[in-house]
Amino acid sequence: MNTNRLSATIAKALNDQMTKEAHASQIYLSYAAWADSQGYGGTANFLFRHAQEERNHMMKILEYILKRGAEVKVTAIPAPFKNPTSLNNCFEKVYEHEVDNTNSIYKVVKLSLSEGDWATWNFMQWFVKEQIEEETLAMNLLDKIKIAGGEKIENNTLYSLDRDLEKTPDDATSAEDVTADKP
Ligand code: FEO
Repeated sequence: MNTNRLSATIAKALNDQMTKEAHASQIYLSYAAWADSQGYGGTANFLFRHAQEERNHMMKILEYILKRGAEVKVTAIPAPFKNPTSLNNCFEKVYEHEVDNTNSIYKVVKLSLSEGDWATWNFMQWFVKEQIEEETLAMNLLDKIKIAGGEKIENNTLYSLDRDLEKTPDDATSAEDVTADKP
């Protein structure tokens, strides 16, 4: 009896997205190691934490594929991107990567919609919401460094910014959680 509840197309799209999340984890890991080697310990801490978060995303998709009775295909992960050239460039790369990941998630959502696979569509909504937070977090980093001077940031400002990042929470506040009393 066939208990596989995913079409071959959806299973492939989910496996690809699972690998993409693993790749994202490696990217954050490499940026974190770069940041640490440059003396940006706070930034490294933030990025190391985020590498773990991406691995959790990978695990969620892996578990979903298993639960739907399809085959998980663990493959090689592409090498991470080149190291950033500055902290400003690092945050730009983080933002670009998150937007790219959002587009990839939207493709899986569209596919599930076209196939009427409502279970996958519903599962993917968690990722749609998560990507809003991930993009917000990346935008906040860009805003912070822009205010601090971007590429022209002075060393003392760089020091404070890096120190702040160590305590920056893993998740941004979502719009749904905002009230008039708690903007
Ligand atoms: Fe798994 Fe940063 O998206």
